[in-house]
Amino acid sequence: MWQLPLHVSAKEVSAYYRLLSSEEQERALRFRVDRPRTEFVLTRGTLRTLLAQYLGSTPQEVQFRYELRGKPALEGESGLCFNVSHTDGLALMAFVMRRTIGIDVENMGRDVDAQRLAERFFSAREVKALKRLNREELRAAFFRCWTRKEAYIKAKGDGLSLPLHEFDVSIMRNETDALLATRPDPAESDRWMVCDVPVGPGYTAALAVRKDVA
Ligand SMILES: CC(C)(COP(=O)(O)OP(=O)(O)OC[C@H]1O[C@@H](n2cnc3c(N)ncnc32)[C@H](O)[C@@H]1OP(=O)(O)O)[C@@H](O)C(=O)NCCC(=O)NCCS
Repeated sequence: MWQLPLHVSAKEVSAYYRLLSSEEQERALRFRVDRPRTEFVLTRGTLRTLLAQYLGSTPQEVQFRYELRGKPALEGESGLCFNVSHTDGLALMAFVMRRTIGIDVENMGRDVDAQRLAERFFSAREVKALKRLNREELRAAFFRCWTRKEAYIKAKGDGLSLPLHEFDVSIMRNETDALLATRPDPAESDRWMVCDVPVGPGYTAALAVRKDVA
């Protein structure tokens, strides 16, 4: 796993921009706001650089394909799998051989109504667990729950077409096996490892990896 702070000079952003494919450069130019554009360029440029090092090629030679709901993967037969997440000021990238993987990082500084969002997006079991917490504990537990759920849906590549109430994650700290239950197939939960990723203060992150080889 790699952690990348997303604060660099304009000169460095231009250098990363030159590593992108023409489609990625066009995508970058479509952002109307500077910050998300810069974060996309830095993240994608770094992703290309790291993949090239693993593959023994150059960043420009790396070729992506996209799954049905937009999850990027490598073209070819290398077996190298990855996933990326970026939020205000920080990117995380996870790499693994022949295993489906998802990662998510969130900035905990965001102003959120944790209780209301939990009731809207989380499963009944997760909402019940969050209701037992006091105000101070609630915010951190909410972001733990969110990133663990998001890492799992990102690993599966389904985006929000995977209903968020069809699986439960733990809201407790320091879980190494945070996927508690899956529906309608209860055996699915045993096929995954979902755990937290240690990141800098102010952020929460989680990783989901399929246990068997893809
Ligand atoms: C892409 C998606 C899966 C995640 O988006 P996000 O949380 O805003 O963004 P992240 O920074 O974590 O991830 C974006 C990266 O994941 C990758 N990605 C894109 N589509 C993906 C997909 N379907 N599955 C997995 N990864 C995907 C890309 O590398 C992307 O980076 P890029 O935008 O620089 O190309 C989004 O489509 C989505 O469904 N979000 C769900 C949001 C939500 O409400 N979650 C509730 C959790 S409880």
